[in-house]
Amino acid sequence: MAEQPIERQPRDVLPEVKDVIAVASGKGGVGKSTVAVNLALSFVRMGKTSGLLDIDVYGPSAPTMFGIFEQPRTTPDHKLLPLEKYGLSLMSMGFLSTDDTPIIWRGPMVHGLVNQFLHQVDWGALDALVIDMPPGTGDAQLTLTQVAPLSGAVIVTTPQEVALIDARKGLKMFQKVNVPVLGIVENMSHFACPHCGEGTYIFSKGGGRSTAEELGVPFLGEIPIDPEIVVGGDQGEPIVIRHPDSPAARAFHAVAERTLAELARIQAQTAQARAAVGKMKW
Ligand SMILES: Nc1ncnc2c1ncn2[C@@H]1O[C@H](COP(=O)(O)OP(=O)(O)O)[C@@H](O)[C@H]1O
Ligand SMILES: [Mg+2]
Repeated sequence: MAEQPIERQPRDVLPEVKDVIAVASGKGGVGKSTVAVNLALSFVRMGKTSGLLDIDVYGPSAPTMFGIFEQPRTTPDHKLLPLEKYGLSLMSMGFLSTDDTPIIWRGPMVHGLVNQFLHQVDWGALDALVIDMPPGTGDAQLTLTQVAPLSGAVIVTTPQEVALIDARKGLKMFQKVNVPVLGIVENMSHFACPHCGEGTYIFSKGGGRSTAEELGVPFLGEIPIDPEIVVGGDQGEPIVIRHPDSPAARAFHAVAERTLAELARIQAQTAQARAAVGKMKW
């Protein structure tokens, strides 16, 4: 029997946010948070009001990546106010926990937390909210795809075959819940020699692009390996802020532009289809 597609809830959360973009990966450590952060900041640079929701319950990284270690304030009606940095509105699991004890999240707890985060943060009006998803394709991820009104998903992978296999799984999860996949980003794609600029493809070349082609989704771009990304990530200064003209920052800007272009294309297509249905005589 063919599997039934899972129904998504109608849009009753984040009504003031125009587009909600999930950044996901099949496995951890591929640079999902790095891509989410630099994508959200690239949107700010493009003149968009933008937010970042770090809901990676297994390893929230926004506090370190932005150098923010304060607790968010609450409004009189008990909503959480996002923190602000570099023109970006920010909310992270990590802003709320007070110690380093890892928490073992079980399905229902994750569900409750995700709901709370989506309902109880006062984002105000935003053009785009980027969600840093937990890695993988388990319950936590599925809950998010069902509760959050996702406009689309960006899948992050590295060039190794193991990461690409997991990226395919991630992509299929979004397709199953009818969330458009905006495309694949290949992170840590190659190393550009600081002396001559020549790119060395340390793992293998073209895996992200060929996986995107094979699965029929756009390839959003390659992000090079840049040690400054690690330093910036540890010091609260993401690469697009730290070195806005570096090849890595420019690669992030290009990915951001392609992501928004793909979103616009999908939305125009949907609007056209709706209009066509509207004109039908029943
Ligand atoms: N393009 C890159 N070049 C160099 N280091 C990177 C790059 N992307 C990510 N990193 C580093 O790799 C580590 C994992 O990245 P992170 O974004 O935290 O991954 P994830 O969220 O998928 O677990 C971090 O130390 C980060 O600074
Ligand atoms: Mg992360």
